[in-house]
Amino acid sequence: MQFFVDSTEISDIKEALALGLCDGVTTNPSLIAKSGRSLKPVIQEIAGLAEGPVLAEVTGSTADTIIAEGREMAAWAENVVVKIPVTIEGLKAIRVLESEGVATGTTLVFSPSQGLLAAKAGTRYVIPFLGRLDDISAAGIGLAVQIQEILSNYGFDAEVLAASVRNPGHVTACALSGVPIVTAPLNVYKQMAGHPLTDIGIQRFLADWESAKAEL
Ligand code: E4P
Repeated sequence: MQFFVDSTEISDIKEALALGLCDGVTTNPSLIAKSGRSLKPVIQEIAGLAEGPVLAEVTGSTADTIIAEGREMAAWAENVVVKIPVTIEGLKAIRVLESEGVATGTTLVFSPSQGLLAAKAGTRYVIPFLGRLDDISAAGIGLAVQIQEILSNYGFDAEVLAASVRNPGHVTACALSGVPIVTAPLNVYKQMAGHPLTDIGIQRFLADWESAKAEL
């Protein structure tokens, strides 16, 4: 299972790399805006650090503008993957870019049919948004599982990259269902390490050791 880091924070990406939890990085226009920097230098810096794919999202809405943006982004670094929203124009652009050898991910996927169209267009990553579906009381994990089943039924090369992953439960649900890639902020992966009984256990062991130590 691959863990991508959903962030433009360089310190988070470095820490995730040190933890062995950075198989790739995802960004989106909101995260770029939050960084206060321009898209190109952020993506180039991250692409130089990360060993895996770095997804940079287009903002154009016509196939021509998306293709132009995608070609430009792909030239920034070898590991840049162009992230494209699943619209009709986006699907046209994905076909063209993939035919030119530019790797794409299809984002803002909220239904199995959108996922199927993305795979048919030849995208590398189909990106369902779990948390945003949960936000409207729909089961995000169900969508990821359904898309996974569709891809496997027909042997598509595309992989599910589960996004909008907001908590350890999302990651575990993906792991139990065989979803190959998740992307989440670093703090979600750190939360996975925590358990109250682990903390209590450490405190008890240390207390027992401190009281026994004097008599040894
Ligand atoms: C990453 O590719 C997505 O843009 C991101 O996971 C969205 O997460 P959010 O729904 O928490 O904003």
